[in-house]
Amino acid sequence: MNRPSPINRREFLATSTLAAAGIAAGALAVPRIVRAAAAQPSTYKLAIAGSGWWGKNILREAIMSKACKVVGVCDVDATMRKEGVAMAREMAGDEPKEYEDFREMLAKEKPDILINGTPDHWHPLITIEAVKNGAHVYVEKPISHTIKEGRAMVNAARAGKPLKVVSDQTGCPTWTDDLAAMTLELLDRGASGLWHATNAGQTNWFDFTAAILEEFGLKTDLSPTTSAEWFKIRPDSAVRPAYSVLDVEPLSRTLGRPVRHWRDALREYRRQVDEAGAL
Ligand SMILES: NC(=O)c1ccc[n+]([C@@H]2O[C@H](COP(=O)([O-])OP(=O)(O)OC[C@H]3O[C@@H](n4cnc5c(N)ncnc54)[C@H](O)[C@@H]3O)[C@@H](O)[C@H]2O)c1
Repeated sequence: MNRPSPINRREFLATSTLAAAGIAAGALAVPRIVRAAAAQPSTYKLAIAGSGWWGKNILREAIMSKACKVVGVCDVDATMRKEGVAMAREMAGDEPKEYEDFREMLAKEKPDILINGTPDHWHPLITIEAVKNGAHVYVEKPISHTIKEGRAMVNAARAGKPLKVVSDQTGCPTWTDDLAAMTLELLDRGASGLWHATNAGQTNWFDFTAAILEEFGLKTDLSPTTSAEWFKIRPDSAVRPAYSVLDVEPLSRTLGRPVRHWRDALREYRRQVDEAGAL
């Protein structure tokens, strides 16, 4: 059975397109992240705007991940700014530059990741400026005050930055709605024991991403990469099997119907999102 990865505050990168598809994508975590860039260095240049109480809590988590180098701390309050710098220095030995203006910091430091820990009314402007500068953004909640602000942030993040996805791992993405329905049907039939329950068909992550982009009408510069290339930039990544397709024939026989193909599940998911007015 495919399982979604747990949401983890320390996990800083994922594709919002895959997250948006709501498919149980075992290799990819689903954090509260707006994705904008595709280049994935082994040490991420990290900057923070708003190093107040909560911003520093997130900064601490980022430093503890050991995947980041803090390059910039921006706060309009000098005391808070210096506290952020001191944290980076003491915990990681980093020497981030201090900034009062987030625009200047983003332009000069070009961070891979920006933590946006400013007060709520600053979230949209700083997030949009950051994704325009090619950064991934961790933005605190509430992400925005209005739907329009939220839409503007998502639009900026979707503006078509390149996306590289591995194409040599084949599996079957499975929609959690289908998984839940099939599990209930099995229980209704009194089934017991171990079952393979996924959607039908198979695909690789690259083709899966292409299908999501197509289904949601998103235009992104998408190109394939290999697991070996991925491991060069993220050697600590979990090893995923090259082929993880499960045999759903026994399930189909027991249910007395074909198991839905993952592409049809994705189409149905998109229809539901559309119907809910969430697109
Ligand atoms: N996820 C959670 O559980 C959680 C908990 C607490 C707070 N928060 C959120 O975190 C955010 C920050 O909350 P806080 O309690 O740390 O507030 P805070 O006032 O302690 O910190 C905000 C910091 O941003 C700075 N700032 C303000 N405008 C700025 C600007 N334009 N550029 C740079 N810096 C600027 C302030 O000087 C201050 O140091 C809020 O959005 C809040 O809702 C989330």
